[in-house]
Amino acid sequence: MKVFIVKDYDAMSKKAAKIVRDAILRKPDLVLGLATGSTPLGLYKELIRMHKEEGLNFSKVITFNLDEYVGLPKDHPESYNRFMWDNLFNHININPSNVHIPDGTVEDLEAFCKWYEEKIDEYGGIDLQILGIGRDGHIAFNEPGTSLGSRTHIAKLTEVTRRDNARFFDGDIEKVPKYAITMGVGTILEAKSIILLANGEAKADAIKKALEGPVTCLITASALQLHPNVTIIVDKEAGSKLELEWEREY
Ligand code: PGA
Repeated sequence: MKVFIVKDYDAMSKKAAKIVRDAILRKPDLVLGLATGSTPLGLYKELIRMHKEEGLNFSKVITFNLDEYVGLPKDHPESYNRFMWDNLFNHININPSNVHIPDGTVEDLEAFCKWYEEKIDEYGGIDLQILGIGRDGHIAFNEPGTSLGSRTHIAKLTEVTRRDNARFFDGDIEKVPKYAITMGVGTILEAKSIILLANGEAKADAIKKALEGPVTCLITASALQLHPNVTIIVDKEAGSKLELEWEREY
């Protein structure tokens, strides 16, 4: 694992953006796995800047998002589909037919999960996967107790996650969907390379357990310890409980 503890959110976002940019420059038809949430917003802003100011070309990039709420229509203000278009895709030259985001409104969710896995395979697998981490140590919506070999599946969201996400639903936990489609931990581990980002003190415990604790389904991010090509970039606050001598860049 390459772990970098950087000064702040801005440094975290810019460092991650450089890795993404270099990967696209090496492979213009990069298969890029994307995450939603507050954490990658700075990374997406920087990628948009690189597109507008430096001509970073996304025209051949293929994207697969990690997850989507079950039951929210694509244009719902809090759907992850909407999030991705508002915060990234509408501002870069991505080809809409290269964008893949799970659809939480399909009738046969199980069949959709299988299709999503097959689609990823069709493109030769994910080259670079971006991840955030939940306070409960989840990656995507792989909540505590999810098998570390899991594939794309329907996940029941924990109370902690629904409470954390209520801020986007008028602060009302009742409005937060109870289920989501999510890539599994096994799906994520098959990505050729992975970047996990975390910022802020609220993530310090999860980062400590994920990086310096045992590999366990209770903290699904800990499964990243098994992956040969993971880069973890955290700000000072999220890295404040780490004890090993990781790279410090501030
Ligand atoms: P956040 O969510 O980026 O909004 O903190 C991360 C996650 O739950 O994976």
